[in-house]
Amino acid sequence: MPVEHPLSAQMFGDDFHFGVAISAAQNEGAILEDGRSHSVWDVFSRKKTATRKGAGPYPACDFYHRYKEDLLLVKALGFNSFRFSISWSRILPDGSGKANPAGIAYYNDVINECLRLGLTPFVTIYHWDLPQVLQQEGGWVSPLINRWFRHFARICAKAFGDRVKNWLILNEPAAFTTLGYLVGKHAPGKRSLDAYLKSVQHAVLAQSEGAAMIRAQVPGARIGTTFSCSEVIPFSSREEDLAAASRVDLLMNRIFIEPLLGMGFPEDDRGLMEKMNRRNLTWKHAEKMQFGMDFIGLQNYFPVVIKHNPFIPLVQASPVKASDRKVPHTSLGWEINPGAFKNIIRRFSQYDGIKELMITENGAAFKDSLNRGRVQDDARIAYYRDHLTALLQLKQEGMNITGYFAWTLMDNFEWAEGYEARFGLVHVDHATQVRTIKDSGYWWRAFLEYQGKGQHAVRI
Ligand code: NOJ
Repeated sequence: MPVEHPLSAQMFGDDFHFGVAISAAQNEGAILEDGRSHSVWDVFSRKKTATRKGAGPYPACDFYHRYKEDLLLVKALGFNSFRFSISWSRILPDGSGKANPAGIAYYNDVINECLRLGLTPFVTIYHWDLPQVLQQEGGWVSPLINRWFRHFARICAKAFGDRVKNWLILNEPAAFTTLGYLVGKHAPGKRSLDAYLKSVQHAVLAQSEGAAMIRAQVPGARIGTTFSCSEVIPFSSREEDLAAASRVDLLMNRIFIEPLLGMGFPEDDRGLMEKMNRRNLTWKHAEKMQFGMDFIGLQNYFPVVIKHNPFIPLVQASPVKASDRKVPHTSLGWEINPGAFKNIIRRFSQYDGIKELMITENGAAFKDSLNRGRVQDDARIAYYRDHLTALLQLKQEGMNITGYFAWTLMDNFEWAEGYEARFGLVHVDHATQVRTIKDSGYWWRAFLEYQGKGQHAVRI
């Protein structure tokens, strides 16, 4: 017998932001329409074996044309907030210079539609889709990137700041610098320690300078930025595994937030930082890297278990797969562990200088199947239920957490994983663009509607 569980949105307080998050490159499609130029992902995904089955950001979910019906879905599921990103190459097809009026008009329409439906828009300025024209000039490695980024941020602020009050500067800088410039698995596919270190330094500056630009242009703005984070668990208590875990922790969790909080780059792992310093990086500009954000967006999916591995450059560490450890995991092999979600949020909350936290992404990919109009994704329901329960406990401990965004509204272009990793609350057939709300979408609707009177309580 299912048990009535009184988990409800109400328990998080009336002002809590419950939303879904999406990004431009993963959802919009329409890659060359109305003046948009190519982004790095359009080009990178054409390289053989760069993405699963050669998939690219076209057609994605055709959100460019279908945003009205998709926003209606967000509303119908009961969410009060919507997080999306602005495509740089739609707004500035030359990367810099003059704005494209059609690009501005498009995001005006999306924003106005959010407001008409009563959805609070949360705008991410940069979610990984650099214009290819800027990549040709070096992209995040170029010393000009910060000037280009400030210009883009300024145009977004001026065009949308009268209606958009919640801003996120960068999406997961640790992910796009590591995967894009060190490991080569994401656009632009570089594998170079020098390129990586430069991209890190520039992205650290972009988060503070972008925020300062929004502060200067948008009265009443609430400014945040997002960080990927994962609890890093040493494989054993052996000294070398502990040291390996601490190096990974530095690169995954600390390297972007600590300079933003005015702590400079983390230096306590001397070995790693000295190695990084020897490679042309001068870790200066401490005050330029700092910004007093109104809130910090944390994005968590899984913890990692780390073992010493002398063959891996720089970190000399590698993860031990969840499947090898025989623990529950998603279709991407990501460990499901709400306790670890709690631990890493708790740890971030202990940094001085964080005023407010939001979970700006959390979710899971599973091998969903559509059977006679229905997707029974019980595993995803359990994932959300358990993570929301953990989050509520943190809130009850007194942590100032003010929002939670599910990743994601609908099955979309999951970067190198193409269209096979399905994260959506809504199933999408990418050939026909037919949308089908999954059971997890209905679960969310019940969770969000429950008013504490019992009639819509979520059954688990
Ligand atoms: C983080 C990224 O921000 C998002 O683009 C991605 O799809 C999800 N994680 C899932 O991998």
